[in-house]
Amino acid sequence: MFYSDEIIEEIKNRNDILDVVSQYVTLKRSGRNYMGLCPFHREDTPSFSVSPERQIFHCFGCGVGGNSINFISKIENLSFKETIEFLADRAGIVLPTSNNAEDTEKQNLKKKIYEINELAANFFHENLYKPTSKLAQEYVKSRKLDNKTLKMFLIGYSGTYSELHYFLKQKGYTDKEIYASNLATITDDGKYIDRFRKRLMIPIMDVRNRIIAFGGRIIEDRKDTAKYINTNDNLVYSKGRNLFALNLAKKSNDKRIIIVEGYMDAISLYQRGLDNVVASLGTALTEAQGRLLRNKEQVIISYDSDGAGQAATLRGLDILQNLGINVRVLQMEGAKDPDEYIIKFGSAGFNKLVDNAISLVEFKVKTLKKDLNLNNVDDKIKFLNQIAKVLSTVNNKMEKEVYIDKISEEYKISKEAIYSEVNKLEYANSTSKTILEMPKVKAELYIPKNEKISIDEKKENLIIKLLIMAQYKVYKELKEIIKPEDFRNEINRTIIEKLYQKYEETNADIEDFLILFDDEKVVNKLSSIMMENEENFDVDKCLQDVIKSFNKEKLLTERNNIIQKLKNSNLSSDETLKLENDLSKILVKIAQSK
Ligand code: CTP
Ligand code: MN
Repeated sequence: MFYSDEIIEEIKNRNDILDVVSQYVTLKRSGRNYMGLCPFHREDTPSFSVSPERQIFHCFGCGVGGNSINFISKIENLSFKETIEFLADRAGIVLPTSNNAEDTEKQNLKKKIYEINELAANFFHENLYKPTSKLAQEYVKSRKLDNKTLKMFLIGYSGTYSELHYFLKQKGYTDKEIYASNLATITDDGKYIDRFRKRLMIPIMDVRNRIIAFGGRIIEDRKDTAKYINTNDNLVYSKGRNLFALNLAKKSNDKRIIIVEGYMDAISLYQRGLDNVVASLGTALTEAQGRLLRNKEQVIISYDSDGAGQAATLRGLDILQNLGINVRVLQMEGAKDPDEYIIKFGSAGFNKLVDNAISLVEFKVKTLKKDLNLNNVDDKIKFLNQIAKVLSTVNNKMEKEVYIDKISEEYKISKEAIYSEVNKLEYANSTSKTILEMPKVKAELYIPKNEKISIDEKKENLIIKLLIMAQYKVYKELKEIIKPEDFRNEINRTIIEKLYQKYEETNADIEDFLILFDDEKVVNKLSSIMMENEENFDVDKCLQDVIKSFNKEKLLTERNNIIQKLKNSNLSSDETLKLENDLSKILVKIAQSK
């Protein structure tokens, strides 16, 4: 491991679990812990719990858990090292530079790319104001972008051939570094030239306001090249993990966040007073992007009104919905995208659309309706059928009633007809369940998780719990009696082996259990044990009980083994005698232990 224990300790101390988790999950106090909806699986009632005292989280629903490092690693999908860097950065801790050559090199190159991007953005921006950039200036004007917006987004214009490359070389950057930042390409004859030429340049920033990439738009009607070219993924940029303008939207007080398709849409909305807009970066919305929005109360999708935009809306909806996000869809008519709409109808007009954004159910119903003609009886039956399916996914009864009211009014279908269709469906579902699956499913479902554990595993868990609570003291008492190989559950065995090894090395308590393990299953298991209620837990008594029962079990196993051996008819009389001797000794011990 590259970072020292001290550094990792410092990083944990300065990233309080409650703070860290709160940025992703809305938490409510519940006794000594905090509870919220688990960000790692879909749920309607909170089973995700955070303990500020123990500095851990654990979800009783899906079983994940750990400390703040485990949390960030999982939610941001980062490696251990990246997580340490992320949290160090979050807490303003400067990490020591690596002594590993490859690492240092990568680190340096990353730093250079950030510098290059910053220089390039300013270079492009200044270039936009030069007399030689008339075309770009006219373009900007035609898009109604004002100067304040140009400054705010640091919008620029790229040169005609290799001006940037030349400028960066003069600043001392190498071809390799410029190439790594994806601002240059290599021509067939091996020369470096600017990758972005004669394009309106839109810098993309991360949440820390560092420039990580560019989008470049053509300013003339050209059919020979793509409307946009963008920075490809590189050492500092991953387009599926970032959202354009999130650095700005993050600061908004609005509990809602609007997600649009285009850079131009986002920029245009900001110019006209909205401050809570992000743009997905020309890709279908990814889960990683969705996760960035999770701390907002509501995400409003406002994609283009064309077919592609609407298809993207449906996919985005599912992704966000699956992340447990409350998502709505903005409905727009009379313009192809938010930019055009707000120019036409002003911010008041657009804000009205934001307020009237419809729910997932309404959007799905509306989409169903599109291909059908409700004056046609067959279509109407089909429609009723399909909306019933959508409605039966709504668990909340009142919510369902509200939808039915709305749909009835909007599509001129009687409430009774909708109710009857929904009930038919639900009745059909529920009866088939009762008859066919219910008994089995019920039995499976209602066994509380912990009771599934066999007796042995329970005991094993208890031993781990004792070690966590009283540490080295427990180890000293147990080490001669219970060995790691006595553990049957593989995860438990891994835990015990490591803990024993650590106690043997240090002869002292362990400060942090979780940090000792890489395996997610182990961390989850440990956090679940750590999260248990410890009131009225008598360590000493429990320890004695465990030892007693363990010894007894060992004796019983030994006894059974001998009996097994004695059944073998090929034994010599000496062997038989010895075994019988052993057996009687063990039987005495068993009797004594009662
Ligand atoms: N995009 C891209 N490459 C393209 C076209 C689009 O990367 N060839 C991405 C860009 O991020 C763009 C987004 O998809 O912002 C949406 O595309 P579009 O609606 O065409 O672009 P706008 O930003 O709305 O630009 P404009 O209003 O100038 O058409
Ligand atoms: Mn657009």
